[in-house]
Amino acid sequence: MRKPLFAANWKMYKTSQEADVFVNALLANPLPAGCDLVVCPPFTAIPTLAKLLHGETGVALGAQNMNPEEEGAYTGDIAPRMLDEFGVKFVILGHSERRALFCETDEFVAKKVRAALKWNMTPILCVGENLDEREIGMTAEKVSVQIRRDLKGLAAAEIGRIVIAYEPIWAIGTGKNASDRDAVEVCDLIRARLDEIAGAGVGAKVRVLYGGSVKPENIADYMKHATVDGALIGGASLKPDSFRDIAARGVAARG
Ligand code: PGA
Repeated sequence: MRKPLFAANWKMYKTSQEADVFVNALLANPLPAGCDLVVCPPFTAIPTLAKLLHGETGVALGAQNMNPEEEGAYTGDIAPRMLDEFGVKFVILGHSERRALFCETDEFVAKKVRAALKWNMTPILCVGENLDEREIGMTAEKVSVQIRRDLKGLAAAEIGRIVIAYEPIWAIGTGKNASDRDAVEVCDLIRARLDEIAGAGVGAKVRVLYGGSVKPENIADYMKHATVDGALIGGASLKPDSFRDIAARGVAARG
């Protein structure tokens, strides 16, 4: 049984002090049971949140990116062991903003996925099409290519440890969330690709999330479908009540 997962992607929002306020507010009220929660703050807030989220708080610490190399001359980047030092357990990789604004290729994303697995971190691998690709009927092709390239050469057991987030680019930060039918179609397609590359049954083991303008008001539409295992949430994860509410309503919709 796949446990629902709700991951907060704060992007370039919140100082460490603001992150401290958020987590204290989040932990002040009971968290929904029956799901995993992850907060992915900017790097500078990781040391503060590592202290607050230490132990059995029910909220895991994540990062939004990392360089795949162990160390080296990579000005401005952060290595896996630097995240590991603070108990980071999840890392968002291949987010469309990284791919588009920082020219990250599938080959580079694939290296990061390997590095995360080596360091026992769970990659949250983001895939998804842009509006032009959707309009010309290229969604399945785009997502399939990303899955094949980003997971190239991994063993079935490694793929089984990954989380995949389907994030249609046109739905990110736009307030125009994908329909539940579109999300279900692509989540199922992702599972089929995983079966193809890693063997039958692997697709059913992996948690597949939807992301793109998720809010408390629309999470149930997705979570009522068994193939959607949770959400990667940007804007609506910046307020503790809204993040908690999304998780609570998501779990309730799963029934
Ligand atoms: P959004 O962002 O929820 O603000 O659309 C989602 C994401 O980029 O992960």
